[in-house]
Amino acid sequence: MSLVDDLLEIKSTAEEKLTSVSGLDELETWRIEYLGSHGKVKAALKKIREIPARQKAEYGQAANDIKNHLQNNFEKKKEELEFCADSSGKGPIEDITLPGIPPCLGHSHIITQTIHEICDIFGKMGFESVYGPEVEDEHHNFTGLNIPPEHPARDPLDNFFIEKDCDSEMELTDTMLRSQTSTVQIRVMENRRPPLRIVAPGRVYRPDTVDATHSFMFHQLEGLYVDKDVTMVDLRTCVDQFCKAYFGPEVKTRFRPHFFPFTEPSAEVDLLFQSDDGSSKWVEMAGCGMVDPAVLEAVDIDPEIYTGWAFGMGIERMVMRKYDIPDIRMLYESDIRFLHQF
Ligand code: DAH
Repeated sequence: MSLVDDLLEIKSTAEEKLTSVSGLDELETWRIEYLGSHGKVKAALKKIREIPARQKAEYGQAANDIKNHLQNNFEKKKEELEFCADSSGKGPIEDITLPGIPPCLGHSHIITQTIHEICDIFGKMGFESVYGPEVEDEHHNFTGLNIPPEHPARDPLDNFFIEKDCDSEMELTDTMLRSQTSTVQIRVMENRRPPLRIVAPGRVYRPDTVDATHSFMFHQLEGLYVDKDVTMVDLRTCVDQFCKAYFGPEVKTRFRPHFFPFTEPSAEVDLLFQSDDGSSKWVEMAGCGMVDPAVLEAVDIDPEIYTGWAFGMGIERMVMRKYDIPDIRMLYESDIRFLHQF
């Protein structure tokens, strides 16, 4: 066996032993045996002096390589062991049999939960959930809904219109943040033919002053049903069934005549709420009515063949009623103590 073979022998046994080292104390023993000042590698290096001149270079090179190699392996092993060692240096602290710490995942906001819940209730009644854009044009937000240009609802002060720079003058465009989800009625009827039965939840925007019951952004749910022989009786029943499913079977509803440009006849839906002190009051919850024939005609649906009804309700208002939330702002302030309750 050559002298270099002796070195390789040292290297392979050192490596073998190092793999079975399982604690920092053991590692120190290994270090002293191989890399310590009286260790085997040092001894091998010292031997260089006695090696015949023609083998010196080869031997020296090999001895140094082995020293560096083992030194590297030692550092790596040390890092590994320190990573999972406790302060006493005696082996791993990870007890893999302990139950883990579950990551905190959070959950959906109460508005989102409510949208899912409401869409599920309508889903069971055969309504498909659809969505429309929040950035709209005047046609879908007003004209298509039979709201003429001179109608007060179109006042720029009551809507969020997008401005554009025209020769350094700001001018209003016909692009706006939608003020109602009724836009989705038009979008659906433009693209599809009856029978149609949809609900469309989403955000709407109005420049209202923020207070306990108003916000510049809130959520609505639109409903639309168009088919042959659709009547107001279906509407009355459907709204009533929904309110009972969402608020509870004891809830009472009433229709109060109203006016909307896109429905004729139109009504507002009130819910009767009983308070703990025995008193009760009617609270407005939605607008609804039979789709105006002019709206159907504008999207090429023949009002002589088809009739329909529609409704729009405020989601915040329902959530606030159901959970007794006194101030709409609580829904948007992201206070975890409040949100965790749902
Ligand atoms: N878009 C109306 C609003 O924001 C609510 C509404 C009333 C929607 C009657 C309807 C409807 O679909 O038929 O005040």
